[in-house]
Amino acid sequence: SKLAIIGMPMDLGQTRRGVDMGPSAIRYAGINERLKNLFDEVRDNGDIAIGRPEVEIDPESNLRNLHLIAEKSELLANEVDKAIKEKAFPLVLGGDHSIAIGTLAGVAKHYKNLGVIWYDAHGDLNTAETSPTGNIHGMPLAVSMGLGHPLLTNVGGYEPKVKPENIVIIGARSLDEGERLLIKEKGIKVYTMHEIDRSGMTKIMEEAIAYLKEKTDGVHLSLDLDGLDPLDAPGVGTPVNGGISYRESHLAMEMLAESQIITSAEFVEVNPILDDKNKTATVAVALMGSLFGEKLL
Ligand code: ARG
Ligand code: MN
Ligand code: MN
Ligand code: MN
Repeated sequence: SKLAIIGMPMDLGQTRRGVDMGPSAIRYAGINERLKNLFDEVRDNGDIAIGRPEVEIDPESNLRNLHLIAEKSELLANEVDKAIKEKAFPLVLGGDHSIAIGTLAGVAKHYKNLGVIWYDAHGDLNTAETSPTGNIHGMPLAVSMGLGHPLLTNVGGYEPKVKPENIVIIGARSLDEGERLLIKEKGIKVYTMHEIDRSGMTKIMEEAIAYLKEKTDGVHLSLDLDGLDPLDAPGVGTPVNGGISYRESHLAMEMLAESQIITSAEFVEVNPILDDKNKTATVAVALMGSLFGEKLL
């Protein structure tokens, strides 16, 4: 099997600079070394060209960097699409979570019923109307369901990318009012920290895998490092206390590896400027090892 690593050094979906260095930080943490024995071939396709564009606020929608994100997302969608056509597993390195708009645009056209695991403290289910911030990294999951500004929902030239009933959110502990309403209205499956504490990660993952396995033909893992507890992953722009532990996260990745349901992945929101000696990128790489079937013995 083949792995294609794609860097998406985009920080336009929020206001804290530094998350554009996420792909470098993850490479520096040894992604190649860690994954090279788990695939027949690991290819690093380098970074999507983002440049240093001027910050832009769209006057009609109040969305920060709307046109830029739409434009750069097309580039990522093309790269991801190309990787899948070459029969490689696409692994995208963020960048803030707005990159998921492009990743999913490249992935979803290859599946009739794509599943998504959204491993995150947040729902990222805001629209321009419900967002408290105007930051697009709080919106990619809604966008992928076809909800939000048309410039975003139409990335890749089609919408929606994913159906609400094919989504599982894991680790939620910070949801805005509009996001809560949307979760109820659409019947999105959410495992909050409460459920994880109460039932344990084993049970949660068994359920999540069984739920997705029977109705999807591929599953994308979108892992926001802020899903983990800030003690384990401090280098993120929007940390929320009381998160998933390092051990629980390894267990989750190992169970996904065993299930063999994951067909694409992205690791996002690694911000080395806010980090403690590249700890968060190092955690990301360790979790990738487990996700791709690393064995101790
Ligand atoms: N809900 C907040 C917002 O809409 C925070 C989103 C954080 N998202 C993330 N990918 N870290 O701005
Ligand atoms: Mn406009
Ligand atoms: Mn997120
Ligand atoms: Mn988050």
